[in-house]
Amino acid sequence: MARKQIFAGNWKMHNTLAESRDLAEGVIQGLGDLKGREVVFFPSTLHVPEIINMAKKSPVKVGVQNMYYEEQGAFTGENSPVMVKDIGCDYILIGHSERRHVFGETDQMVNSKVKAAYAHGLVPMICVGELLEEREADKSEQVVDSQLRGAFKDISEEQAKKAVVAYEPVWAIGTGKVATPEIAESMHQHVRKVLAEIYSEGTADSIPVLYGGSVKPDNVEGLYAKENIDGALVGGASLKVQSFLDIISVG
Ligand code: 13P
Repeated sequence: MARKQIFAGNWKMHNTLAESRDLAEGVIQGLGDLKGREVVFFPSTLHVPEIINMAKKSPVKVGVQNMYYEEQGAFTGENSPVMVKDIGCDYILIGHSERRHVFGETDQMVNSKVKAAYAHGLVPMICVGELLEEREADKSEQVVDSQLRGAFKDISEEQAKKAVVAYEPVWAIGTGKVATPEIAESMHQHVRKVLAEIYSEGTADSIPVLYGGSVKPDNVEGLYAKENIDGALVGGASLKVQSFLDIISVG
């Protein structure tokens, strides 16, 4: 089955507004034939309206890196799904490992955010991935299994078909230690197996699963050649125009 292929740049907490503008402009102008691939930017929430405006006439989609799940209220410092949709976002990144491990986000919160995304017509890009100690204790599959079951709890099959999953092993994020294509492929197969258990093989086959964790122009090819790797969620290497352009034009 032809799954959507997606290359996303997670800009995390980087860039002044001027730097975000330059980055967006450079990438948009440098886009060649996307070969049907989708390109997504996740800028700082403060920069999102400006970047959406710049991306309007391009094929690039924009999302935010986090949101709260309530629609409105006394939640100082948070942004709601209503606001994310209203500003014109297509995607919402949910459950990134930095949200889970720096800010204490639980599977239950991830699930509430996934529900909120569907309630407001946003596409959730749901991140899962194990810590180094979990990999060393041979628990990677178990961790990813429970993160997926948590994220998709009470999500219908019809809704799940619109999701995107990103497998990001925490030990590979920002460390320069990329998973080998074999390790990544085996975890992506595991993600599909769990999704098939929750829903069906057809649905599992239709959900794009991106790899994230130290993806660079010089390692993306081996990863992207794998059957179950449908693109990349890129941190550091998405902050430079040329390296991101090199990544999205792989293969
Ligand atoms: P790096 O590409 O910097 O390792 O970050 C990966 C990531 O966390 C993307 O969401």
